[in-house]
Amino acid sequence: MTVPLECHQLVKAFNAQPVLHNISLTVQRGELVALLGPSGCGKTTTLRLIAGFEWPDEGTITISGRMVAGKGAHVPTEQRRVGMVFQEYALFPHLDVMGNVTFGLHGSAKDKAKRAAEMLALVGLEGLEKRMPYALSGGQQQRVALARALAPEPEILLLDEPFSNLDAALRMQVRGEVHSILKNAGITGVFVTHDQEEALSLADSVAVMMQGRIAQFAAPETLYHYPVDREVAGFVGEANFIPAQAQGATAACVLGTVPLLEAAYGDVELLLRPEQLILNADTGAEAIVLWREFYGHDQRVGLRLTDGTALIARADAPRRFAVNDRVRVSSSVPLKAFAAVRS
Ligand SMILES: Nc1ncnc2c1ncn2[C@@H]1O[C@H](COP(=O)(O)OP(=O)(O)OP(=O)(O)O)[C@@H](O)[C@H]1O
Ligand SMILES: [Mg+2]
Repeated sequence: MTVPLECHQLVKAFNAQPVLHNISLTVQRGELVALLGPSGCGKTTTLRLIAGFEWPDEGTITISGRMVAGKGAHVPTEQRRVGMVFQEYALFPHLDVMGNVTFGLHGSAKDKAKRAAEMLALVGLEGLEKRMPYALSGGQQQRVALARALAPEPEILLLDEPFSNLDAALRMQVRGEVHSILKNAGITGVFVTHDQEEALSLADSVAVMMQGRIAQFAAPETLYHYPVDREVAGFVGEANFIPAQAQGATAACVLGTVPLLEAAYGDVELLLRPEQLILNADTGAEAIVLWREFYGHDQRVGLRLTDGTALIARADAPRRFAVNDRVRVSSSVPLKAFAAVRS
């Protein structure tokens, strides 16, 4: 079976300013891949190259075995079999739901209506065929946009920040809905986000982009626990870093002796996710609580150790930490170590 999408060594500059450097990305059938990175790192540009709205300066793009860009290939957007969903839904305001979903379809009116009805059933909007876009909620509009993008049976669905227009509560709901629609239908997709929680929770694999490069392409769990460097570690979740001396399977640090995920030796920096810190009264380093935020399911606690090290911890909610509480901090799970940056 051919691979739905292969980007190989894509390079792109605008006005002699390099924007993408050697972007290589392979997406397997049925896989949902997130492009995650800070603003301006080149996510939308990558998606636009895949869609055919821009052309790479170097490198190739292959969709289901057919080279569509690079090495003389110049396949236009409409022949690439990609579906697009944008941040602002971009529904045609003068067309009703049915008109929007059938817009890009070919064939008889009856066939188009049948396909549109299947898509509206897929996204759970049966019965709204005659509604105009202005009379739909944001979440419904996004589902119409999804139905429209899926109606021509694209090889790949491309979504650019598809949930960022929705408020926080609706965003969680709609992204859950979209995720199950795509997974149930076995759609291959690439979505862009700068929200690490969205990337980790929805994607099968995440490509972390930094300054026009893919810093790491891995499953969410791998990214979170085995980030390739400090920058990725800090971007895919909250991160504390503390200096330590590694002695193979363990390292000595201000919290005591802690186990390591991978053997290391010499000066290192340990990555401590906030939930990997244990706050209890018996063992570990002494600390004072500087601040505390309550989230219902848990709480975030800002700490300062006696040696001045600042840490952020996440703790179960039952114990109520308060500013100026004295606690002891330890960690018992195996930790990721990075070679120490020499100053
Ligand atoms: N058509 C263009 N002409 C000139 N510069 C461009 C063009 N499109 C993008 N850029 C620049 O390329 C860089 C990457 O832009 P891009 O839109 O891909 O970033 P992004 O990762 O999607 O960011 P955001 O999260 O803010 O949407 C930016 O510096 C942007 O200003
Ligand atoms: Mg963008």
